[in-house]
Formats: sequence, structure tokens, C-alpha cells
Amino acid sequence: MCGIVGYFGPSQNSVEIVLEGLKRLEYRGYDSAGVSFIDEHNVLQNYKKAGKLDNLKIELKGKNLIARACIGHTRWATHGGVTDENAHPHHNDILSIIHNGIIENANDLKKELMSHGVKFKSETDSESFLELVTFELRKGKPILESISDSFKRIRGNSAFVILYPKTGEIFAIKRGAPLVCGINDITSEALVSSDPYALAGIVHKLYFPEDEVIVHLSGGNKNLVNFYELDLTKTTRYLSKKQDMSVEVSEKGEYEHFMLKEIHEQPELIRNLTQYYFAGEGREALEKVALYKPNRIYLSACGTAAYAGLVVRDYLEGINRIPANVELASEFRYRDPILKTGDVGIFVSQSGETADTLAAQSLCKKAGVKTLSIVNVDGSTLFRDCDDNLLIRAGVEIGVASTKAFTQQALTGRLMSAAMAGDLKDEAKKVKLTGKFALLAERIDRLLVQSDIIKSVAESIYNKKGFFYTGRGAYFPIALEGALKLKEIAYVHAEGYAAGELKHGPIALIDEEMVNIALVGPELFEKTVSNVQEIKARKGIIVSIGPRNNEELMDLSDYYIPLDFEGLEELSPLYVNVVNQLLAYYMAKFKGTDIDKPRNLAKSVTVE
Ligand code: G6P
Repeated sequence: MCGIVGYFGPSQNSVEIVLEGLKRLEYRGYDSAGVSFIDEHNVLQNYKKAGKLDNLKIELKGKNLIARACIGHTRWATHGGVTDENAHPHHNDILSIIHNGIIENANDLKKELMSHGVKFKSETDSESFLELVTFELRKGKPILESISDSFKRIRGNSAFVILYPKTGEIFAIKRGAPLVCGINDITSEALVSSDPYALAGIVHKLYFPEDEVIVHLSGGNKNLVNFYELDLTKTTRYLSKKQDMSVEVSEKGEYEHFMLKEIHEQPELIRNLTQYYFAGEGREALEKVALYKPNRIYLSACGTAAYAGLVVRDYLEGINRIPANVELASEFRYRDPILKTGDVGIFVSQSGETADTLAAQSLCKKAGVKTLSIVNVDGSTLFRDCDDNLLIRAGVEIGVASTKAFTQQALTGRLMSAAMAGDLKDEAKKVKLTGKFALLAERIDRLLVQSDIIKSVAESIYNKKGFFYTGRGAYFPIALEGALKLKEIAYVHAEGYAAGELKHGPIALIDEEMVNIALVGPELFEKTVSNVQEIKARKGIIVSIGPRNNEELMDLSDYYIPLDFEGLEELSPLYVNVVNQLLAYYMAKFKGTDIDKPRNLAKSVTVE
């Protein structure tokens, strides 16, 4: 959730480098930001500010920022409100630390330290680790030992980066939270972060330490980075990888928001996906999945990814006739699910770092169930932990509200279902599916050119009291995702509902201030129209997204968004979903919200 970046090396611009890294990670959390660095006189300097990174940058204006070691943080608040005091880094005279995660036994640790006269400045759990390490140092233990002994005592999933002014060095350690370090052996720089994206363009090589490995950045020295076990012996428990991510992708270009840019990227990404899996690097991974013969599939994920999982479930049931369940990872992990050998667990995720999804994967793995990810970030924790992986190839997604990742997750799931059905061996079937993907891309292209109609509908309804997104069958997951998009970025109450269920309670809410966004695809058309009639009869405002030239539905609707469904078949729901994405985008724009960084949210949820 929080963004963390640390730099150690010969450059005197470490603060600038860390701020640039934080800027790239700001979408992960943006309640407050801060940096600690060791200035040219070897003095620890600390600056932190509530609010977005720009507030911190204003604070830093005119300050002497010459420094060779710096750590920085953008926060998504868990313990303690959004204040300057609770912002990271947390520091005293001896140390400065940044933290991502939750220390579950922080209260006990604090009480214990307070009984020894330690005073706390913030309401955070993070400060307990700062004071614990300091307490160990004061006993005369060396820094590595102090970190190790302190880390052994904390419970919960966390990543820490520690700046030690005495030597000017940086250390990091994690359990169940993302952490990556990277080196550039030409410039002798070493960095650490919660996300490889922050290091793109600076380092050549990435290292992903395993849990409970202490990372020691010693840029400028022979070994730019060293790894230790908690017993302080050297270790090779890390995965190393070439850094090949480019930085340009982070620009908005001609678009006002990343979200809009990412919506517009979809047609191109859809076209590239079949090429990647049928004729490119993805072939091998898909061929592996084609050999699966699962008795049952559990799809597990959170948020938008879970809704993409529902779309994939429909493919698996409808096309492959494989029993498939979708499980919210945060619930699945604490149930006692009946997992049997021969089952397959599929984990859908954009980031590959969502704490609950990782825990669900680990549950399946422990039960001896084969695990497969449908994931965007190559090399993410989920990617590393699963037996097999299908990359969704969405590129970097910056907008906190997920758009292109949803489409790519569902379509990767469609390719997976084709592989399991044996279609990879049948050229004609591959050509047909490629054609369908191309048709979807073309229809979305056309929709994007004509998005003014969606904008004008958005302008008419954005200040209404509440929204029901309704759909049946394959459109029900799209209704859920549509409502989520609107809630996330426009801050209005919206619910996704199975159209046939509305009369079992929620219809009591319908009046002339309530909007029904009716998703009416060609399947179950008449049944869905009947449900729209029921809302119309109660004076609800009807916005229908339905087949072009359908007079019956047009007459019934206050606003009508016509679509051309021909030939799209099982991909039709994904076409409707793009209308929902644009509708949410424009409603949020009319409301004037912060579309790319909506309040209270974070892109990557690394706490449970
Ligand atoms: C957060 C994001 C959502 C995302 C969910 C799951 O809540 O704001 O957009 O759908 O996490 O994230 P994942 O990275 O696992 O897809």
C-alpha cells in the first residue's frame, strides 16, 4: 500500500532520486509523504507532511538536499490519522525508519518500551519497531543484530527500510510484504523499494529478497548489496532478475487523466494479447495450462480482479463445463474450504501483491492444490509463488480505479479456457478467437470516438441520489464492476445487482432520484427488459446500455446508449464494461473528484 524507496550510492542527488521514485508510487498511497536523509555534514534530516507528495515538495523547497543516502515514504494510513506526526519516516537521534504493513503486537511492544522510559511521538504501530531497534542498539548490539532481534519480535506482515546515520547505510527487511532492491553496477548505486516500478531506468538488476532476509545496501562498495539471514549468516535466499521495465509508460500524454489514457489503451492491448499467446512469448505458458485437467477450479481475488474472476468463471463453466467458484480472497483465506488434489486455484490480480490474494494462494499451495496466477506484474510476489502464470499484458496501470487490467484479466481467462478446451491444437479455432478479439477491439475503438454521448448522459445524471447497475447472466459481473467504478471515483452510492433480484428488497429504494443503469445485452434480453419495466413503473430514471435500434428498450429508457453486439458473443460483456468505465469517468469529472487518486483508496493493498 505505502510506497517506500531508499537510495544509497555516490550520487549527491539521493533526495531527488527518492522523490522521483515516490512520485511513481504515489498511486499506491497518498495520505502523507516524507523523507529522511543524511546531509553533507553527516546530520540526519527529516521532513514529512500530511497530504500528497506535492505538499512535501513545497516543504523541501530551498532546503539543502545534498545527500548520498535517503529513504522516503508515501503513506496509506492504517494506525493513526493522517497527520504530519504520523507520517513516515519515524526517527529519533539514532535511526530513521519507514514501514509498510501492520505490526499486530505494536501495543504490547509500546507498553514494554514505555516501561523502560521510551517516549512515543506518533500514534503509529511503525514507531514501535523504530524504538525496538533503538533499544537493542543502546544495549550495545551492532546494527544488524539489533534489526534481526527486533524483527523476530514483531507479528504481522511488514516491510521496513532503516537508515542508520552512524554509518550512513540503509537496511531493509520484510515478511509477507513486497520489497525489491536494485543495483546499477556502472554507477555503483543501490536502491530499495516496495515496487520495481520506482527503480525503472535507474538500476540494471533487481533482487527480490525472501521473507526474513536482511538486505544491506552498501552502494559505492564492492558488493552493492548484501543479504543476511536473521542469524546474521550470509544468504542467497533472493531471486535476481534483469530490470527491463521502461519509464516512459508513466506519462499521461494527451490525456487529462491516467484513467482515461488506460481506457483508451484497451483496443491495442486486446489485439496484442492473442498474438502474445498464440504466436509469441506467451505460448509456452498457455500450452502448460492446456494440460490441466482440473476437477474443480477456485478463482480467488479482491476488488475488480474478483469481478474479472466472475467473468472467467462463466467461461470455465459455459465453455469447459468445469465446476468453478469465485472466492473473495479475504473470506476464502479464513474459511475451511474443501480443497482436494486435482483442484486448481487461480488467482487474479493486477499488482500480484494484494495481501489477501497472496494468503489465499498460500492456503491452496499448502493443501497441495496447483496454483496459477492471472496477473499483470511480471515478477510480483504472486507470480513468484504460483506454479504457473498467465500474464495479462496490460502494461503499467496507474489510475487507482482499475480499467484495462479488468479487460485483460477476463480476456486472458478466455484464452485459458480455450487452451483447456484443446483449442490450441486447432488452427481454425485460434483464428476464429483472434477474429473475435479483433472485433471487440474495433468496437471499443468506435465507442471511444463516440464517447460524447456517454459524457452527455453522465452530465444529466451525475448528481442523482443513487445508482443501481443491473444485469443478468454474463452482465451481472459487469454490473458489479460498473457500480464499483462509480463508487471509487465519483463518491456516490452505487450497487451492482442481479436484475432479477431487485424486487426482493432493493426495489423499495426506487424513486425519481434513483438511476438504474440497465445492462441489456442480447442474452436474456426479454427477461432483463421486464426487470427494467419494474423500475420504470416506480419512476426510476432508466439509462439503458443495449442493442442498437431496439425501439422497445429505447421507449422505456430516459437515456439510451446503443451498442453493436453482433459477432462478439461471449466477449459482449467486456464491451458493455467500457461504457461503464467511461460513464464513471465522466460522472467523476463533472463532480470534480480526484479521478486518478480517489480519496481513501490505494492501488495496491498489501495489508489484509
Ligand atoms: C485495490 C485496488 C483495486 C483492485 C484491488 C485488487 O482495492 O484499488 O483496483 O481491484 O485492490 O488488486 P489487485 O492488484 O490484486 O488486482
